[in-house]
Amino acid sequence: MTAAAEDGDSKGGDPKGFLGRVYGARSRDELRAIYDDWSESYEADLVGWGYIGPSLNCGLISRHVPRDRGPLLDAACGPGNLGRLLHLLGYRALVGIDISAGMLAKAEARGIYQACRAMALGEPLDFPDDHFVAAVAAGVFTAGHAGPEGFDELVRVVRPGGHLVFSLSSAVYEAQGFKAKLDALTDTGAIGLVDSTDWTFVITRYPGDTPPQHRLFVYGVR
Ligand SMILES: C[S@@+](CC[C@H](N)C(=O)[O-])C[C@H]1O[C@@H](n2cnc3c(N)ncnc32)[C@H](O)[C@@H]1O
Repeated sequence: MTAAAEDGDSKGGDPKGFLGRVYGARSRDELRAIYDDWSESYEADLVGWGYIGPSLNCGLISRHVPRDRGPLLDAACGPGNLGRLLHLLGYRALVGIDISAGMLAKAEARGIYQACRAMALGEPLDFPDDHFVAAVAAGVFTAGHAGPEGFDELVRVVRPGGHLVFSLSSAVYEAQGFKAKLDALTDTGAIGLVDSTDWTFVITRYPGDTPPQHRLFVYGVR
């Protein structure tokens, strides 16, 4: 069965064209404005499109990150959909960051994060060195979003022995330098690959013509 066949009828579910708009954003301000606009319906849209990214990330976190060993950073937390699953699994020291005030307000309203703060991957993060036991970044290392330079600060704020859990889009993995960045950090001994999935369609009923594939990775911070 092809992925498209497995996906069934994948048309017609994005009347405001949010997916195309976020992938095509030309600046962080434009992207922030689109996500602010989308924050009201984002979670329902993604559930409707069969988005399994948060579930896969939670599975990997459960496999590799013990609970109650320290704060866990949900980087690009969106409306807190992943945080909600982590909280249900017993992860209580959650900190969310995102560029979108609308998304942060949704995440904060869940009452499950210790803090929700406006910060951008790719810029300095306002956390001390070695602060987090792990950082998860779901759905943000993709076209038009955060670039590979975002990993430098994630490595800095996660303590040695901690983990980075993230998804990467096939659209950017090699073409926009993510593989090279991860290889370089591995070569310097800063991180090491611990686990990964196959490439898969994390939006299983993609409302467009060219669904990107994603792969999830777990790196240990050395
Ligand atoms: C596709 S959503 C993913 C949200 C959630 N993690 C999930 O998996 O559903 C992407 C999120 O990343 C945020 N974002 C985009 N670029 C960012 C950046 N450079 N740093 C932090 N957040 C960013 C957006 O505001 C949006 O909330």
